[in-house]
Amino acid sequence: MKESSVYDCTVIELDKHHNKKGNISVVENGQTVPFAVKRIYYLYDVPGGESRGGHAHKELRQLIIAASGSFDVTLNDGKVKRTFSLNRPYQGLLIVPGIWRELTNFSSGSVCLVLASMLYDESDYIRDYINYLDYKGNGSK
Ligand code: TYD
Repeated sequence: MKESSVYDCTVIELDKHHNKKGNISVVENGQTVPFAVKRIYYLYDVPGGESRGGHAHKELRQLIIAASGSFDVTLNDGKVKRTFSLNRPYQGLLIVPGIWRELTNFSSGSVCLVLASMLYDESDYIRDYINYLDYKGNGSK
């Protein structure tokens, strides 16, 4: 999505079922997220100071959850940057297609859970920032 902006990306509050034995949060297709979940993956054991991401997707939609610990997600649409600090397992950051993202400041033991709208497809990635700006119509090419 070439026209998407960082303002199309929002934090969604997930269901939280709390009792004295702990908490459960739930994500349901068609209820919690505006896409059908086709793939789930998670980042863990990220070394201190390491960053992840550094790419955009052409079609993929994602919900990113700090299932444990905390990290920052900086979204960039080529014009505006927004940074979200995720540290609540009952919140998810919805990322629409066409947004460049960087994940940084992973706390020790953190788990970044990602729900995705498509199976893994390397051709959906834009990994070069200059190409990304060009894709968004902001480039110099
Ligand atoms: P990548 O999406 O670049 O990771 P990150 O954005 O967290 O830095 O993926 C890293 C590697 O893992 C890449 O070589 C492809 C592989 N990979 C898969 O094979 N399947 C997947 O679903 C994902 C997310 C990554």
